[in-house]
Amino acid sequence: MQEIRIEMTKNPKQKPAPGTALGFGKIFTDHMFIMNYDEGQGWHDARIVPYGPIPLDPAAMCLHYGQEVFEGLKAYRTPEGKISLFRPDRNMARLNNSNERLCIPKIDEAFAVEATKKLVEIDQDWIPTEEGTSLYIRPFIFATDPMVGVHPAHHLLFVIILSPVGAYYPEGLNPVKIYVEKNYVRAVRGGLGFAKTAANYAASLKAQQEAEDEKYTQVLWLDGVERKYVEEVGTMNVFFVIGDEIVTPALQGSILPGVTRMSAVEMLKSWGLKVSERRISIDEIAQAYKDGKLTEAFGTGTAAVISPIGELKWGDVKMIINNGEIGELSQKLYDNLTGIQFGKLEDPYGWTVKF
Ligand code: COI
Repeated sequence: MQEIRIEMTKNPKQKPAPGTALGFGKIFTDHMFIMNYDEGQGWHDARIVPYGPIPLDPAAMCLHYGQEVFEGLKAYRTPEGKISLFRPDRNMARLNNSNERLCIPKIDEAFAVEATKKLVEIDQDWIPTEEGTSLYIRPFIFATDPMVGVHPAHHLLFVIILSPVGAYYPEGLNPVKIYVEKNYVRAVRGGLGFAKTAANYAASLKAQQEAEDEKYTQVLWLDGVERKYVEEVGTMNVFFVIGDEIVTPALQGSILPGVTRMSAVEMLKSWGLKVSERRISIDEIAQAYKDGKLTEAFGTGTAAVISPIGELKWGDVKMIINNGEIGELSQKLYDNLTGIQFGKLEDPYGWTVKF
């Protein structure tokens, strides 16, 4: 495994005072990890250095054609004072799946986990300890060739930065309001939808802005072909409780394979519940609502954790789910998942990496 060169900052920043409202992704720690890729040399020169700007040629390809991938995971402080990471191997495996789609050279997943651990260890005093807070980890890779021709890059950077965060949505664990997007689509099969890449988020901005103008938190995307089947919310995957079945859209190429989604499916199944990963149309959801069978809906994501959906609007149909309150199952899932992540509950699944 490569050595990681370490250069400590001489100017540590002021950390947010305990009790500061952190928001999401606004504050960054003292150090970052960087590694270069150059064709012929592979990935090399791994280093942890003071956090700061990265010089970039104005012709750098990532700025023009979006050859970029990223990940999101979190570090938590356990009651015993240890650091806990949640399934970091899954994030690095997904990063390589995204790399494959974006013609980015693969990284050594085990090394990327070790680099993450080292960086978090160095900046561990930045892990916030207030209820519901954690240290968000953002690994990302982008093309740096100074070249305004469209082709896969020969030179890239892999960077990891850290940010102490609170809840992603201002609502916290209170149910969010979502509307079903009718005008725009996020992704189609064969496109980039399953990859964690900037383009998918760029595609979502306009819809997101219009949703916010109408006082909705986010949009629920339908499939890009028939505009009929539910896909995801854009910063989270989505689940519906219909009668005794918990349904989440099947991964078929245009949906992000969320690590929290996978963990929720595994956890719900381990409780003996009926979980289906299948196609589900918005008509089926509306019908279930009409029949009084849609009892809960929630999103899952690293940033969003478990986020109950209190209102789902589809054209003129306004579905108020569980009286706009968090449902029993969403609460149980939240408590158990965060309990394991924060090391407050035993981890029978072997998901956490503690050090
Ligand atoms: C995450 O949940 O980690 C995400 O990447 C969502 C987002 C903030 C883009």
